[in-house]
Amino acid sequence: MRYIDQAPHFVQLHHPRPGATHPELIAGLLATPARIAPKFFYDALGSRLFDAITELPEYYPTRTEAAVFAEHGADMARHVPEGAVLVDLGAGSCAKAARLFPVLQPSAYVPVDISVDYLRDTLAALQQRHADLPMLGLGMDFSTRFALGADATTWLSERALAQQPRVVFYPGSSIGNFLPDEALALLCQAHAVCEAGGTGGGLLIGVDRVKPRAVLEPAYDDALGVTAAFNRNLLRHVNRLLAADFAPAAWQHVGLYNEDESRIEMHLQSIGAQTVRWPGGERRFADGERLHTENSYKWIPEDFETLLREAGFGAPRHWTDANGWFSVFWAPA
Ligand code: AVJ
Repeated sequence: MRYIDQAPHFVQLHHPRPGATHPELIAGLLATPARIAPKFFYDALGSRLFDAITELPEYYPTRTEAAVFAEHGADMARHVPEGAVLVDLGAGSCAKAARLFPVLQPSAYVPVDISVDYLRDTLAALQQRHADLPMLGLGMDFSTRFALGADATTWLSERALAQQPRVVFYPGSSIGNFLPDEALALLCQAHAVCEAGGTGGGLLIGVDRVKPRAVLEPAYDDALGVTAAFNRNLLRHVNRLLAADFAPAAWQHVGLYNEDESRIEMHLQSIGAQTVRWPGGERRFADGERLHTENSYKWIPEDFETLLREAGFGAPRHWTDANGWFSVFWAPA
């Protein structure tokens, strides 16, 4: 019986508590323009709605990135070390990393996600299918600060994995959610995580590229309205966190490309004037006023290379699709 061995280890550093005060959330709601950080999309339903988005015909990033991996995976494997500790940022369903297991032959898998319950479930299922691969789930919010932490370091040491190279895997262009300065800070932290392991490690990261508005905007405003549901679901999540009374149906989804800033912006636009209340506060919204919920930056490869170098990485290389829509970068630590 090896049943016991098949449960993955899990460290929960992020503790979503109903009734907790959320100063960051409240400050954003009271700001002008009002904003809610995109990490609040990912409650259990939000994570599932995001998975549905990736199946939409308009949402090209996931499928384009998959094509880049399918076409260039063998070449990537010449640069990315085998036997690495694979640290998966924003792992979600863990499906992308799992597809890399045969190519990269990792010595351990360490998925990190803020959606703690979702990660716990998906990881348990994955461990069943890969019984011999040590897995450590980290339920944490890496958007403010990313480090493996003492529990993870101990876990690696106990398995003699502390000196394996570390590959930080950050697919899907989630880096696009960060302002360029914040992206630099996160990449610096990723660099430190790689450097703390054995030699040969680095960052494998998917980055969405600048392209025509006619391709970008439908990807964030699809015909079925799945992205709209994903956007509005954030209000349900905030209602639970703050005991607020947002009415999701009173908000219209907006997804537009801001060419000057090279970013998709998602907003929720108030249908009519309304007041949103929570214990200890309220915010009045005028008719048509917007609540900013997400930025999704689109990069040109040269600028992203500069960012990687600034974060301390060595000479990066990247692979792309036939249209040059999406790039996967390997940046050695
Ligand atoms: C997960 C941040 C990469 O920006 O494309 C998809 C999130 N938002 N549709 C993106 C998202 C609306 C996605 N990232």
